[in-house]
Amino acid sequence: MTSIGPHVLGIAGMSREQIEFILATAQQFREVNTRSVKKVPSLRGKTVINLFLEPSTRTRTSFEIAAKRMSADAINISAGTSSVTKGETLIDTALTLQAMAPDVVVLRHSESGASHLLAEVLTKCAIINAGDGLHEHPSQALLDALTIQNRLGRLSDITLTMVGDVLRSRVARSNILLHRILGNKVRIVAPPTLARKEFEKMGVEVFSRMEDAVVGSDVIMSLRMKFEYLKDIFVPNLDEYSRLYCVGEKHLKLAKPDCLLMAPGPFVRGVEVDSRVVDGPQSLVSDQVENGVAVRMALLFLLTTGKGVSQPDIAEAGGI
Ligand code: CP
Repeated sequence: MTSIGPHVLGIAGMSREQIEFILATAQQFREVNTRSVKKVPSLRGKTVINLFLEPSTRTRTSFEIAAKRMSADAINISAGTSSVTKGETLIDTALTLQAMAPDVVVLRHSESGASHLLAEVLTKCAIINAGDGLHEHPSQALLDALTIQNRLGRLSDITLTMVGDVLRSRVARSNILLHRILGNKVRIVAPPTLARKEFEKMGVEVFSRMEDAVVGSDVIMSLRMKFEYLKDIFVPNLDEYSRLYCVGEKHLKLAKPDCLLMAPGPFVRGVEVDSRVVDGPQSLVSDQVENGVAVRMALLFLLTTGKGVSQPDIAEAGGI
């Protein structure tokens, strides 16, 4: 029987079976989000703390909605409202929270490895990494995979091309790991300062010209320039970068005819991706956000109650 846990710290270390298991569970929760009354009792009596010490719109909101739709008590803590601003360490903050007996702590933090550190210190609750520095953002890669699966009808035989700030993107890292586990082709394209040759060690093809990279792609994913990390200037100027790497209609035309456009967000229109493409029929940006709730419901469910339930057992386990 497949199981996940005790924590979800990254895609690294996950098996194909575990990824498919999470996505299959999320697939079931998608239906809950279409009901007029979007509430199920799956996590009644459970407590989820969203500890977001770095800004977030999509991830924080969807973890909160996911917890609430499953009847958990959801508590949100941001950097500005926590005692971290008074000098308390992450570990002391986390131990304080653990003393209040949460079942899951969802952590976003600017330091790579912060959620691994928490998983070593907190012994009484599950940790979900909601993005740690330059390292990983596993729930984003999982929701991206669910979105691809639902649109293309498959999870394998896919060529995924990621454009932009690969160097500073935890989303890129988690997507590379996930799609390499699934045996898919992954390409990255950016100036050589951002899409470095070292990425070839992860099994990806590295390009510097968009026109070369997008040919034959099933999915083009636009990545944001993450100026908040590593302050070095990696591109000569933003205008020149956009002229060469802003994903536009001409790139979709060079790819496969039904090529999909994805962007984990937030994105800057006209810099990383053209508005006509984001708002066009090949864009899955809204689907990504929608699927984010279902994937996060699945992660919370499997970590707190699932303990390896097989697919048909979910309803029986008080699920949906
Ligand atoms: N994709 C993503 O992580 O977005 P947020 O920073 O808004 O959570």
